[in-house]
Amino acid sequence: MLPRIAIIGANGFVGRHLVDLLAREERPCLGIVRSEAGARVVRERGGEAFKLADLDGSSTGSLVPALEGSAGLVYTASVSAVAGAADRTDPSGLVNVLDACRAAGVRRCVFLSGLGIAHYGMNPHCTNPYFLAKMAGEVALFRSGLEAAVFRPSYIFGAGDEFLSPLIRRMSEETAIEIPGRGDYRLQPVSVEDTARAILGALDAPASGSPSVVDLVGPEIVSYRALVGRIARILGRAVDIRERPVEEAQALARDGGYFGLRPHDLACLLCDEVSDPGPVASLAGGPLEPLDRMLERTVAALARGEHAP
Ligand SMILES: NC(=O)c1ccc[n+]([C@@H]2O[C@H](COP(=O)([O-])OP(=O)(O)OC[C@H]3O[C@@H](n4cnc5c(N)ncnc54)[C@H](OP(=O)(O)O)[C@@H]3O)[C@@H](O)[C@H]2O)c1
Repeated sequence: MLPRIAIIGANGFVGRHLVDLLAREERPCLGIVRSEAGARVVRERGGEAFKLADLDGSSTGSLVPALEGSAGLVYTASVSAVAGAADRTDPSGLVNVLDACRAAGVRRCVFLSGLGIAHYGMNPHCTNPYFLAKMAGEVALFRSGLEAAVFRPSYIFGAGDEFLSPLIRRMSEETAIEIPGRGDYRLQPVSVEDTARAILGALDAPASGSPSVVDLVGPEIVSYRALVGRIARILGRAVDIRERPVEEAQALARDGGYFGLRPHDLACLLCDEVSDPGPVASLAGGPLEPLDRMLERTVAALARGEHAP
């Protein structure tokens, strides 16, 4: 029997697809979630669910017996201990989980960070509490003594994501689409299926004795403006692009959201971070899904009403 993998946030976008992959490969999977609805998502996909209300010290004690027998853990949640905590950069939630891993004999942990972290303090769009929290999380993992694998994602695309799917829906309904600034900042989307395969590859890789950090990027770099054009072509619609000054978009994001984007979501879009996709392809065990194919599949899934998790 292959060793069990535990997932914190197993009902989330990446977590769900990881549960699917493990189920397809007939590998045991423990999905750690904080609601009954989350537990249902895990069970329906073939995983075993474990409910944990929060990641604070009083809750994570019960995690130790639950984690026993797991070889690795994937941490997809925010780093803070309590949902909606004011100080989201406090890594105590992750630290509590790492303590539980050590006590339960779990050897390896994968942490989902953010692609802009390497330019914190250098690129203004990478210098905010979101990237600081990710940095605190990486440090906590590196200090834990566990075998550490960090993924720093650009955008992860697929049915049920919170970026591409809403954008496609908006573009299906409107004849004009507003973008922040000129839209020349670049993204490097990777499919959620390739993401799951790369994470599993990192969990199964031989121990190297030092932490590994991988920029989780897809095979093609595309500007946001070009991405909008590509989606319009796939939808078969003429969509007019209207530019809103970046400062105005940022002010709207601060005042309750800019088309659903919070300030740090908008910063991630504007941060213009790209990297080498080679290490992801190697961990995923093959060529990465081309961008047009990701877009076509997401458009088709939305048309079939398959957006909801
Ligand atoms: N998706 C992307 O394009 C992208 C890009 C860059 C970085 N990332 C990072 O990758 C990770 C996974 O992304 P995702 O899109 O899968 O996120 P997601 O859909 O929001 O899923 C996050 C999961 O973590 C759980 N969670 C969040 N805070 C928690 C807490 N304090 N205690 C316990 N559970 C908690 C959520 O539970 P509930 O369902 O109960 O809320 C959910 O299951 C995130 O850390 C994100 O920052 C993602």
